[in-house]
Amino acid sequence: MQKYIDLAEKALSKYMKVIDNPQKKIYQAEEYSLMAGGKRLRPVIMMMTAKMCGKSPELVLPFAAAIEMIHTYSLIHDDLPAMDNDDLRRGKPTNHKVYGEAMAILAGDALLTKAFETAASFDDETVSKERVLRAISTLAIASGDNGMIGGQVVDIESRNEDEELLKYLHSLKTGALIRASGVIGAILAGATEEQIKAVDSFCENLGIAFQIQDDILDVTGSEEELGKPIGSDAENDKSTYVTLFGVEKAEKLAEEYTNKAIESLSIFEENGELVALAERLMGRKA
Ligand code: IPE
Ligand code: IPE
Ligand code: MG
Ligand code: MG
Ligand code: MG
Repeated sequence: MQKYIDLAEKALSKYMKVIDNPQKKIYQAEEYSLMAGGKRLRPVIMMMTAKMCGKSPELVLPFAAAIEMIHTYSLIHDDLPAMDNDDLRRGKPTNHKVYGEAMAILAGDALLTKAFETAASFDDETVSKERVLRAISTLAIASGDNGMIGGQVVDIESRNEDEELLKYLHSLKTGALIRASGVIGAILAGATEEQIKAVDSFCENLGIAFQIQDDILDVTGSEEELGKPIGSDAENDKSTYVTLFGVEKAEKLAEEYTNKAIESLSIFEENGELVALAERLMGRKA
């Protein structure tokens, strides 16, 4: 796990250049959130998937960095007063607390844009241009109104959802980028359609489990371990797996989705790293 995180950190600092020009502030605001740590889950999934499909994890680094930029932008905007209005992220004051709302909005926009610049810089000749294009398109769709943003919209608009809508919300808001992480790893590694589908199903179920746990930790977690405030969902009157089912049943559901995820990987011989990752996430405290 650590070796993948190190690779991701190195790639991120390579692509996140702070340039000394009149708009220097924007690079600083981007770097502030991007390099603040975080689990780097999405890059790790992408690299582990590429490896499982027989390629080196380094192959996917531009896309791994790109998806973490998009994830980080989504967090900066998610924390804004107009959204969840939170003051702490990745153990530090949120972007708008340090740089102001206008700069935080722009830093998110800039990271989103930089993500596609970074992905488009992929130049490994062993991967066909068709596959690179498909990876870029997968990244775009997962980030947009049929993906993460769509999920954020449902999250903002809905109150007292039933389980079906909540699952839909989770599968977009958090599942979409996690799915794209695995799928892009598989696409770039030359996986077959059957393999891509299996990875997609693994990530879809893992993503739902991950957001259920995020909802649980918002109630049972500690601010210190999470690096973000607890009680944010209650404060914003969100309905979550916890408000709908209670902590115990929500934990059971997270476990069920995790097991379903793991089953999807049965067609791969070398699935050990991703299985271990899914199992580890089940008991996560951060
Ligand atoms: C937090 O994501 C927001 C969700 C989509 C649940 P992470 O829990 O992956 O946050 P970082 O990247 O580790 O900070
Ligand atoms: C946000 O979900 C998911 C995103 C797309 C950013 P949350 O609002 O529950 O994420 P946290 O708890 O603030 O990290
Ligand atoms: Mg939110
Ligand atoms: Mg939030
Ligand atoms: Mg949350």
